[in-house]
Amino acid sequence: MLKVVTSPTAPASAGATENRPQIWAVASGKGGVGKSFIASNLGLALAQSGRRTIVVDLDLGGANLHTHLGMSRPKHSLSHFINGKRSDLKEMIESLPGTTLGIISGASDHLEVANLKHFQKLKLIRHLYKLPADYVILDLGAGTTYNTLDFFNIADQGILSVIPEPTSIENSHRFLKSAMYRKLRDVPVDTKEIVKEILGKPTEQTRSLNTLNKIIASIHQKSAKHGKILRKNINSAGLHLIVNQIREPSDFQLGYSMALIWKQYYGKKPDSLSFLNHDASIMKALCEHQMYLHEHPHSRNAIQLKHLVKSIIHQQQS
Ligand SMILES: Nc1ncnc2c1ncn2[C@@H]1O[C@H](COP(=O)(O)OP(=O)(O)OP(=O)(O)O)[C@@H](O)[C@H]1O
Ligand SMILES: [Mg+2]
Repeated sequence: MLKVVTSPTAPASAGATENRPQIWAVASGKGGVGKSFIASNLGLALAQSGRRTIVVDLDLGGANLHTHLGMSRPKHSLSHFINGKRSDLKEMIESLPGTTLGIISGASDHLEVANLKHFQKLKLIRHLYKLPADYVILDLGAGTTYNTLDFFNIADQGILSVIPEPTSIENSHRFLKSAMYRKLRDVPVDTKEIVKEILGKPTEQTRSLNTLNKIIASIHQKSAKHGKILRKNINSAGLHLIVNQIREPSDFQLGYSMALIWKQYYGKKPDSLSFLNHDASIMKALCEHQMYLHEHPHSRNAIQLKHLVKSIIHQQQS
């Protein structure tokens, strides 16, 4: 059943598993749809609930997560780690005054995630897993560069933000499709061969396989073993949809329609669906260097975000 986030679902409890932090990635197909707002405030909500939390700005081309937390640009940034000036990602953590939240700021130069070399990406991922935290929240750049897709795909929980505009909806489908297809490559060699066979040379028969769900079902028919591997890989992470900047009652329908499409296309509904109102005080907090969640703890959006945190933690534990 689709979990619409409306109320707390479970008491909060500790998060880190297997001696590594849980990683949540906030992504979108299109820019400017609230990723940094969501990532920073989810981080604050987790920290407020007593979890050791670090937010990481992986939008290296347009790093501004610190601004959403009311900070001026931190002294250290990912650039120092990526260009080898600092060897441990931990050294880049800055504490947010008055909170237990840590932040790793994005690049201060114009280095883009898209330009990260493969070995740099692997090193960064290794260090993300070693951060001293229960939760690490990744604020990703918009779009479908391979590096962004890979950061999304390593996360235990993927959170997709969309706003009720055709371009945002279209690009969010493109993002999720690209992320899922990339997951099909991250399987054992023999399974990968079968995927290649089906996607590589379209035939009369394979042309009708126009959804990921149908592709996996068709592979399952050929070989249940490989079908199961693919399905497991696609379902390996939690997937959450946030419809941000709701202004009209009809905007809610967008969330429900997208959930249905995900089910048809990927064979997987979002694990939760949340709605955030358009709220002018978000911009005001940004301009006044304040933290929205601290300034407006009883707003509908603050309550939704705190409920989302509880809901994800609950799902992860059940
Ligand atoms: N629910 C909302 N109501 C009103 N304004 C919002 C809301 N969510 C975000 N905003 C505003 O929209 C702008 C873009 O938000 P944000 O920077 O979080 O988006 P983004 O997806 O991270 O953008 P980018 O892709 O450029 O990194 C900001 O000015 C922010 O204050
Ligand atoms: Mg951003």
